[in-house]
Amino acid sequence: MAALAAISHPVSGRDLIAGGHVQNIEVDATGVARFQFLLQPADPGELVKQARTAVEAIGGITEVKVNVQLPQMGPTGGGGGGGRQGGLKPGSVPAPTPKPGLLSDVGHIVAVSSGKGGVGKSMVAANLAAAFARGGRTVGLLDADIYGPNIPIMFGVTGRPSVTGDKGRELIEPLEAHGVRLMSLGFLLDPEQPAIMRGPLISGVLKQFLQQVNWGPLDIMVVDMPPGTGDAQLSLVQSIDLDGAVMVTTPQDVSTGDVRRGVKMFERVNTRVLGIVENMSGLACPHCGEPIDVFGAGGGEKLATEMKLPFLGRVPLDPAVAKAGDAGAPTVVSAPESAAGHALNEVSEKVLGALSVLAEARS
Ligand SMILES: Nc1ncnc2c1ncn2[C@@H]1O[C@H](COP(=O)(O)OP(=O)(O)OP(=O)(O)O)[C@@H](O)[C@H]1O
Ligand SMILES: [Mg+2]
Repeated sequence: MAALAAISHPVSGRDLIAGGHVQNIEVDATGVARFQFLLQPADPGELVKQARTAVEAIGGITEVKVNVQLPQMGPTGGGGGGGRQGGLKPGSVPAPTPKPGLLSDVGHIVAVSSGKGGVGKSMVAANLAAAFARGGRTVGLLDADIYGPNIPIMFGVTGRPSVTGDKGRELIEPLEAHGVRLMSLGFLLDPEQPAIMRGPLISGVLKQFLQQVNWGPLDIMVVDMPPGTGDAQLSLVQSIDLDGAVMVTTPQDVSTGDVRRGVKMFERVNTRVLGIVENMSGLACPHCGEPIDVFGAGGGEKLATEMKLPFLGRVPLDPAVAKAGDAGAPTVVSAPESAAGHALNEVSEKVLGALSVLAEARS
């Protein structure tokens, strides 16, 4: 208890015991410590890790078992039409199957998806990857949007990847920018050449990106998905052992059912949805940064509640995002102090939280 009481919550300032975060502490005769951790959706997932590390450091403790409780995450897909979705319930999470090929060295794989195009998937994917990298993690970003690969532009990379390795076992080397290892068809295509690829070819390219790119060991791989919920997306989701998907929506699209269709696609292939991000949610006032509701914000959060999915935050329409595109650096790098920069950093914290909850639930 003393070790846990020495850790304080970064927001409330209260320690883990006084704040009621940790309960039912037990230590058995063999030195195995067990406790429940009540993690609220807004809490940084790192807290669980800190608690675990603090208890592990106590002399005589041989093992620490944390049972993470998530009060806001429902056990089923609920309004989303059921299915296995929402299986974040501790203890019920199946062990991950080994990832194919070279991806066996990747800790977590997260896809950023949406029901439709143009809602800011690539923007969110680029910023998640850059924010994770800034937080000291080894990160890869796979641009799976081979119709309109725009990750190279967002990261300001124009080079061509080199090929290494012996004949017959060649590997494509990812390019690196802002601390993120990148692979995109945009690096391999002639800029003038349209990406006129169709179904089977597409999955071939993606397989190659997964298996023949020298990603090296990664803490997290972020996958920027192509828009839509068609076969290309389904086969992609099936070819990667995803830890989960982050769904992006705009306030207007909430009502059109696109997000629901997107969530359903993941349910069909047994992939959990880590949560919903509402993008272009109000306009950040260019003078004071305060949000102005243009289209009516808040729909994403309502939808998340209804579908019993975590809400990962809202990102305002912000000129800093457009400027970041021109600058060839994601907003969390080029304008971390902007309204969108702050919001995107918070979203990245929430995603890390969701991932560490998964990892805890599996351990
Ligand atoms: N919060 C925001 N503020 C300002 N501009 C934004 C914001 N989010 C996205 N944009 C802009 O909107 C456009 C579409 O964003 P993006 O390319 O990330 O969407 P997408 O969902 O990946 O699109 P696609 O389906 O074509 O892949 C880009 O020009 C981007 O800079
Ligand atoms: Mg995109």
